[in-house]
Amino acid sequence: MRIKIVAGNWKMNNDISQTRTLIKKLIDGLKVESTNCGVIICPPFTSLAGANELINETNIKLGAQNMYAEEKGAFTGEISPDMLKSVGCEYVILGHSERRTIFKETDELINKKIHLALKKDLNPIFCVGETEQEREDDKTEEVIKRQVTEGLSKVSSSDMGKIIIAYEPIWAIGTGKNATPEQAQAVHLFIRDLIAQNYSQKIANDLIIQYGGSVKPDNAKELLSQRDIDGALVGGASLKADAFIGIIKAA
Ligand code: PGA
Repeated sequence: MRIKIVAGNWKMNNDISQTRTLIKKLIDGLKVESTNCGVIICPPFTSLAGANELINETNIKLGAQNMYAEEKGAFTGEISPDMLKSVGCEYVILGHSERRTIFKETDELINKKIHLALKKDLNPIFCVGETEQEREDDKTEEVIKRQVTEGLSKVSSSDMGKIIIAYEPIWAIGTGKNATPEQAQAVHLFIRDLIAQNYSQKIANDLIIQYGGSVKPDNAKELLSQRDIDGALVGGASLKADAFIGIIKAA
C-alpha cells in the first residue's frame, strides 16, 4: 500500500518573515488534524534554514525547488546538494516545467541532477508533463515517455525507491484548469506501466506518483482518490495555510 504525499512548491514567494507566518499557521492547523499523509514544503532557498528550525519537531519535511548538477565550484548563483542538506532538506524538486521552459533545462541536465541528488541522499521529486499543444497533437504519451526515460536514464533499481515522480500537465499549472481525474489517472497509469517495463512491477507498484496543476481543496479529493494518484504537488494553493491543509485532509 502506497501512502499519500502532498508537497507544497512555494516557487518564488515568501521572504523569511512570511515563511515563518505561514509555517506557524500550518503547524497549528495540522495539530488538530490527524493525518497519515506525508507533508513536504519547498520554500525558496533563502527561507530553507528558517523553515527547518520551525518544522524541526513536526512531521513536516523540507524540500528545495532546484539544485545544480555539480558538487561545488565556480557556478555563480547556483546551490549544491550539500548546501541543501546542511539546511535540513530531504527532498529536491527537479525538472519542474518552469525550469524546463524558462531556464531551458534539458532532459540530460535533469538526469545529471537526479544522479547527483541520489548520490547525496536527497530524494528527487521529478516533474514531467506535456504542453497544451502536445496534448492536442496526441503526443502526451510520447512526451512523458521521453521525459521519464531520459530523466531516469541509468538510475538503478535500488535508487528508484527514493524517487517521487510528479505528473504536471503544463496547461494545468497556475491556470485554474486542472486535468480531469480520468485524464490524470490515465497518465499516472502510463507512467507506472513504463516503470514496470523499465524496472519491475514491484518497483512500479511502490512508486509514489503525485499529480500537480491547479490542485485545490475542492478538487483534491476526486483527483487523489484515483488508483494511481498518490498525492499532489501544489503550487498556488500551498501559499495559503487553509487551502494547503484542506488538500492534506482530502488526501
Ligand atoms: P499550481 O502549480 O498548483 O499553482 O498549478 C503546481 C506546480 O507548478 O507545481
